[in-house]
Amino acid sequence: MGEKILVTGGTGYIGSHTVVELINEGFEVVIIDDLSNSSVDILDHIEKIVGTRPQFYQFDLCDQARLNDFFKKESDIKGIIHFAASKAVGESVIKPLLYYRNNITSLLNLMDCMQSHQINNLVFSSSCTVYGQPDELPVSERTPFKPAQSPYGNTKQICEEILRDVAQANQQYRLTALRYFNPVGAHPSGLIGELPTGTPNNLVPFITQTVAGLRDSLKVFGTDYDTPDGTAVRDYIHVVDLAKAHVITVNRLLNKKQNQGYEFFNLGTGNGYSVKQVIDAFEKSTGVSVKYTLADRRPGDIERIYANTKFANDVLGWKAELGLEEMMSSAWEWQKRTLS
Ligand code: UFG
Repeated sequence: MGEKILVTGGTGYIGSHTVVELINEGFEVVIIDDLSNSSVDILDHIEKIVGTRPQFYQFDLCDQARLNDFFKKESDIKGIIHFAASKAVGESVIKPLLYYRNNITSLLNLMDCMQSHQINNLVFSSSCTVYGQPDELPVSERTPFKPAQSPYGNTKQICEEILRDVAQANQQYRLTALRYFNPVGAHPSGLIGELPTGTPNNLVPFITQTVAGLRDSLKVFGTDYDTPDGTAVRDYIHVVDLAKAHVITVNRLLNKKQNQGYEFFNLGTGNGYSVKQVIDAFEKSTGVSVKYTLADRRPGDIERIYANTKFANDVLGWKAELGLEEMMSSAWEWQKRTLS
């Protein structure tokens, strides 16, 4: 058995895919998740895919005493990937305190435990939301942050500042923030994928649920953007590519290939696709048509964002391999599974 990695939020969407890739690469995985936005059944599905069941603890990372007990028991953890967080942009506007408490307290608690239990390696789940609407595209890691557009976005900016300051003050740490662009798609097994609770906020789950008959029609938010077809542009990335980047990053930290300190990487494909292009790719790759109507812009949405991925490509030696059609077909396969 390889080295032991703690994955917080490991039953969630990106977390579960990363757990699979870690186990595939020989790591031993222990998950902490409070199941506030995921199901315990995911553990069965992970086990079906990789043949090993990760260890699982159910509790909230805001419970510092519980977390400390956990680290006393699991004394051989070598690195942490911290996914657990609240992530709905719209909800964060309505419940800012919940977002600040969950997202910031959990990181502070984890970092306190890292200090007291001598764990030096952490990968933090960040987002391209830290850039706001940038002045220049594509967005590189040197692009300055704009004011956050939501409390959720602000928590990601604040957490990254915490990482930077803590790394500066404690020379033993290797800390990496991975800034995801728009993760979509599902594992090729069809056994894990995104499971939004209630009405989905994100484009791809809304498309698949509409096609599955769970929603009447997709609304395309905004058709008058300054983009080739008027709809907003994003850098969609397959969740399996994203998961693999985490394994590479963990290996880099554990093998001390990253210098001590704090580093951050953009994880995207480098391609910007419009909402209409996503719908077209879905129809092309699945052969099913998507019912949609044109609607006003969604408040808070930015017009266009896509990544400059050179730093991640060069330094991590990682490159996204899966294209938009694979993202769409896997998302649809997963949606069909969840119905049966
Ligand atoms: N969209 C629609 N109809 C829908 C849902 C979305 O037209 O029903 C459009 C949006 O307006 C946007 C695009 O599809 O133009 C992508 O929207 P998503 O909600 O899928 O993704 P966002 O880019 O808004 O949000 C994502 C992550 C956030 C993160 C943000 C950073 O979900 O967590 O990127 O920019 F903060």
